[in-house]
Amino acid sequence: MANGILLVLSGPNLNLLGERQPEVYGHDTLDDHLAVVEAAAAAQGLDVEHVQSNHEGELVDAVHGARGRCSAILVNLGALTHYAWSVHDALAAFEGPVVEVHLSTPAAREPWRHTSVVAPVADGTIAGLGAEGYRLAVEAVATLLAR
Ligand code: DQA
Repeated sequence: MANGILLVLSGPNLNLLGERQPEVYGHDTLDDHLAVVEAAAAAQGLDVEHVQSNHEGELVDAVHGARGRCSAILVNLGALTHYAWSVHDALAAFEGPVVEVHLSTPAAREPWRHTSVVAPVADGTIAGLGAEGYRLAVEAVATLLAR
């Protein structure tokens, strides 16, 4: 019996994970991370939907499509994390828990990565734990949904 749908949102360039700067983001592909999310979500009775886009508006549309339909959102917006206020506003209009994930630790990198426009509308952020962060984010979603 499903406890709801978890929308996983992946922003620009995350489709290149595994090939892209492996010294920063690791060798796992986005599909590898999704497999982790799906296993963790299944254990919590959650179904997973995934949207990856390199286009800001498509991510806004995906959040709109989740309203009233999905239970929670797990989001790694890639570089849009740092300036996509349209996605911030869309997430602010989503009623369920939002958990932000980053493979790397943006706060320890270039100054332009230190601001997240997602963080003010997220219930929490997990950063710097690589693939493990995705599993922990699902646990966080389940904890928040149980409240
Ligand atoms: C990222 C961090 C962002 O700064 C970067 O632009 C990414 C990936 C991460 O998962 O560490 O594309 O969100």
